[in-house]
Amino acid sequence: MTRRFSGIKPSGEMHLGNYAGAVQRWVDLQDDSIYCVVDLHAMTVPYEPAALQADSRRLAMLLMAAGLDPQRCVLFVQSQVPVVAELTWILNCVATVGELRRMTQFKDKDSGQESVSAGLLDYPVLMAADILLYGTEEVPVGEDQIQHVELTRDLAIRFNHRFGDTLVVPKATVPPVGARIKDLQDPTAKMSKSVDSPQGTILVLDEPARITKKIKAAVTDSDTTVRFDTENKPGISNLLSLLAAATGRPIPDLEAEYATGGYGTFKAAVAEAVVDYLAPLREQFSLLENEPGEVTRLLAEGAAKADAIAQKTITRVRAATGLLARS
Ligand code: AMP
Ligand code: TRP
Repeated sequence: MTRRFSGIKPSGEMHLGNYAGAVQRWVDLQDDSIYCVVDLHAMTVPYEPAALQADSRRLAMLLMAAGLDPQRCVLFVQSQVPVVAELTWILNCVATVGELRRMTQFKDKDSGQESVSAGLLDYPVLMAADILLYGTEEVPVGEDQIQHVELTRDLAIRFNHRFGDTLVVPKATVPPVGARIKDLQDPTAKMSKSVDSPQGTILVLDEPARITKKIKAAVTDSDTTVRFDTENKPGISNLLSLLAAATGRPIPDLEAEYATGGYGTFKAAVAEAVVDYLAPLREQFSLLENEPGEVTRLLAEGAAKADAIAQKTITRVRAATGLLARS
């Protein structure tokens, strides 16, 4: 089996783009996989300590509610396996400042700021430590993270060259094109939690009535046919993508069914499908909310499983790099 690892930052609420574009894929590929709420990465930019704690738990609960089953995969919160910080330090001595400065995510976040944390520059090394600590072969990520996975490969290859064959060299896997969900109010931008577009973003825990309202208010075009054409009909194409994600049906089928029925009927169908798609998640989430002790226990169990894998890697890394064995 292929060992997969991926991480998600606990910043803001999970939205439909995260769920349909990433989390759904994690759920489908969860056997022998490791999924992590990366709270240490969330510390690289200014944040509220109390909010971080609450958000980390909440995101872990959302992932469980979405269908990640702690019996089938390893689900844990990054900082609960602190050895990742040790591997980050060791990899810091393999990475160069030049290559970290060249990362586009760093350049984007750094530009125009008077001062940023050293952690922000080091963000990709912590991510490399996540991936390499768990012997990861495949890293399912969005396109924006490919550069970081490439850096991880470079660091693993360089490490192995310098210290002998120790680390598994991973590769990124990205979802097929078209898996991008767009903002309902601006269908040329991706749906995102950071953007100031509450009406354009569906949160996975939005009330059904709110979901319906947002979909009915989605920006479309002055034409009347339902057709997938991202160039000329970005709004309708996005709604078709949503309907396809929510129902698991291919887009051509949906086009055939809704082509001439009018936008009102089509939007009503999309809203109903999205509400149904998210209903089990809402239900599971509220069950977990009533069992905080169980959530704590499941996370501790996940961290223990992750730690067992991590200890094997760090023992080899320590020996290879000339650190004394821990007695
Ligand atoms: P982020 O919210 O940026 O931390 O991303 C978490 C995961 O969700 C990543 O794998 C992203 O590629 C994915 N993702 C975020 N926004 C979207 C979107 N609008 N459509 C599809 N996938 C997305
Ligand atoms: N940097 C990733 C993101 O912003 C999150 C992440 C942290 C991650 N560690 C990871 C993704 C390890 C894959 C593997 O989406």
